[in-house]
Amino acid sequence: MRLLIEEAKRVLPHSYAPYSGVHVAAAVLTDRGNIYRGVNVENSSYGLTICAERSAISAMVTAGERRPVAIAIVTDMDKPIPPCGACRQVLAEFNSEVEVVMHSVKTGKTVVANLRDLFPSPFKLRSTGSGEGVN
Ligand code: THU
Repeated sequence: MRLLIEEAKRVLPHSYAPYSGVHVAAAVLTDRGNIYRGVNVENSSYGLTICAERSAISAMVTAGERRPVAIAIVTDMDKPIPPCGACRQVLAEFNSEVEVVMHSVKTGKTVVANLRDLFPSPFKLRSTGSGEGVN
């Protein structure tokens, strides 16, 4: 948990958030023991903003992996932030019981929750996202 937070903190300075000023970084740990990171990427057309969690999940899938077991979400806000609704759905695609570690670098506070409690009824067309594709 501590390591995953540190991995996310490493890329927090790369967050591109000139409009909100809210910097967010995420680090995903997979069942193979690898870590993929991402940051939020804002845009002049606000609705095109990509959250840190989805950036990290995209990096995981790009690397050919399908199964996150934990995700650290790190921010410079006063309080740890939970994943937004869209990111909960994206996380649930690959593991609806992923461990979610939320951390504020400003206060040092950490909150841990499981996605099954944060997002109990994900929309699913298939039972798992882990069996499809290259793996
Ligand atoms: N943000 C994330 O990166 N993850 C979340 O789960 C919540 C929000 C970002 C998006 C935007 O760049 C900024 O935080 C303010 O909404």
